[in-house]
Amino acid sequence: MEPRDNPYTPNAGAQPPALVGRDTELDAFDVLLARLERGATEQSMIITGLRGVGKTVLLGVFREKADERRWATIEAEITKNSEFGPRIGLLARRALLQIAPKARWEERARRAAAVLKSFNFTVSPHGSLSLGLDVEAAEGLADSGNLSEDLTDLFVALGEAARAHDTGVVFLFDEVQFLAVRQLEALIAALHKTVQRNLPITMVGAGLPQIPRLAGDAKSYAERLFKFPTIGRLSHAAAVEALVTPAWTLGVSYTDGAVEAIIEYTQGYPYFLQEYGKIVWDEAPESPINEEHVASAQSLVEATLDGSFFRVRADRTTELELQYLRAMAELGSEPQKAAEVARVLRRTSEQLGPTRSRLIEKGLLFTPGYGLAAFTVPQFDRYMIRSHELAIPPPARRGPRR
Ligand SMILES: Nc1ncnc2c1ncn2[C@@H]1O[C@H](COP(=O)(O)OP(=O)(O)O)[C@@H](O)[C@H]1O
Ligand SMILES: [Mg+2]
Repeated sequence: MEPRDNPYTPNAGAQPPALVGRDTELDAFDVLLARLERGATEQSMIITGLRGVGKTVLLGVFREKADERRWATIEAEITKNSEFGPRIGLLARRALLQIAPKARWEERARRAAAVLKSFNFTVSPHGSLSLGLDVEAAEGLADSGNLSEDLTDLFVALGEAARAHDTGVVFLFDEVQFLAVRQLEALIAALHKTVQRNLPITMVGAGLPQIPRLAGDAKSYAERLFKFPTIGRLSHAAAVEALVTPAWTLGVSYTDGAVEAIIEYTQGYPYFLQEYGKIVWDEAPESPINEEHVASAQSLVEATLDGSFFRVRADRTTELELQYLRAMAELGSEPQKAAEVARVLRRTSEQLGPTRSRLIEKGLLFTPGYGLAAFTVPQFDRYMIRSHELAIPPPARRGPRR
């Protein structure tokens, strides 16, 4: 088919031509905004899922929905290396200017600007941030030096400004697994207060299944403030739709066998569906796309995924970390016990503990249960097996190798 017309979107965060299988989350988001607009409260959500399942895309659609309702929408990707306080200050500034342009600020918005100024001074006392807000810092607010308290003051002030201007504020945070516990706790404390005050300000997050582990009050607040929906591979029907609809609207069809072969290979994972669709479209000489076209495209699909989706993850690892991943793959695609992985590498779990922790920190593994680790990237086991050798030959295997 003509590459220029190719409708598929195998790129991180790229909105697919057919966004399927996410109605529950989309409806929940509508309900959240509608209720906050009416001064009611509603649980927000932190969406979790493996890489490539469509979390970033979903946040993008949430943003569009919030824009349509004329909310102030602030998107940010959390990274480990940027300073949280100053970053939040800048995001809050954006929120305030979206609530209303400075020239139209009424009292509550000017007040929020004053609190923001105080907040910024507290988190970066050397004034690296020039906000250009033309206000005096509010006295006695957002200046305790305790992040939870100061962020609470800031969110309350922003929420009040939003309400005074008949709008709301939604922060859309991606990669929330990179928040430090202290940062997540501060966000939770701030939102806990704004919910008590029925203010139209909220935060929706997305990230890997490994959300920072909270304790005590923070934990019980988090459970009340957020739902934690998990998104994953598409159902069979949704996967068919994701694959077939984009082509159909351009007059190109698939045979049933072709569709089934692609769904089997991709297991309904959105990123893989987009990649397969893209390549088979370019490779197939005519419509309908049939099983032979699918079969002959497969090695190119695999090479493309290896070179992009998988390799960028593996590239950030040391040799020992790579061996750890490879040993896990040896054991299969399911979550694996630390002791089992250590056995394959002929070491003890204690010796490998730091390696395992670093892989979790880097977002390559997560812990679905005590003592277990699993890949955050779907089909990563298959990739490891085809691309890397085990440095030490494995000891006698227990289960059959896949
Ligand atoms: N609901 C969906 N249906 C079909 N394709 C999707 C869907 N959601 C996401 N995609 C595709 O999946 C890929 C990964 O999406 P992305 O949002 O970057 O995933 P994540 O943030 O979870 O890693 C993109 O190529 C995107 O176009
Ligand atoms: Mg993403």
